Order: sequence, then C-alpha cells, then structure tokens
Amino acid sequence: MEWRLGRSEEIPEGGRRLFRLGDEVIGVFRVHGRLVAYANRCPHQGGPVCQGEVLGRLEELVGPDRSVTGERFSTEVLHLVCPWHGWEYELATGRCWGDSRLHLRAYPVEEREGTVYVTTGPRPDGGGE
Ligand code: FES
Repeated sequence: MEWRLGRSEEIPEGGRRLFRLGDEVIGVFRVHGRLVAYANRCPHQGGPVCQGEVLGRLEELVGPDRSVTGERFSTEVLHLVCPWHGWEYELATGRCWGDSRLHLRAYPVEEREGTVYVTTGPRPDGGGE
C-alpha cells in the first residue's frame, strides 16, 4: 500500500519525521540528499530506534606509527543510535554496526513532484506488516 506522507521540504537535509501508518510507526530521514524509511522498532528488543540520536560514526585517527592519536565523528557516515540500549545502525542503509546480519526494516520511499510516498506491504519472508 502506498502512503502519501507530505511535502518534500518538510524533511530537509538532516531531518526526520515519524508517521503512523496503520499499525506501524515509520521514521523517514533525509541523509545526503536521499530519503530512507525504517520501522520504528529496533531489531534488538523493539525499542523506538527512529527516535534515537543521529551521530557521525566514531572514527579513530591513526598516526604514521599506527598508534591511535585521537578520535573524531565522521561527517560522511551517520549512525542512528537506539535510545534503549545504544545499538547503532548506519542511517543510509539500516545495517547494524555491531552485527551486519541485522538491519532495520526498510520501506521503499520516493519523491514525486515534491511529495513523499512510502510503500508498505507484506515482508518478503511472508510475514505480516
Ligand atoms: S532495543 Fe534497541 S538497542 Fe535494545
């Protein structure tokens, strides 16, 4: 089922909005110009992951002798941090940073003529919405 969510400008770069679509709450984010949409349920224990902090991935700075000289937050790779236990997911892909077998449940999202649409439906594994 396709849902009309609103105008594109309502989700600017770095922005997020949550929508209740039937029984599901979905978070829509704009990251590096592209929209992504995820179920607001963390694969760990069901926490409201889409309401978590968005932070740059923590990167270590390594000197010429291969020793760690400092840390910085990436401006390219952004993580969504689940507020319940801190599991981190790559915002652009939904992949769990600590366990690449786990992903946020993603929904197809597109913009047409300045309007945002999300499509929900049965999971490919035959499960419900
Ligand atoms: S429910 Fe999200 S980290 Fe535990």
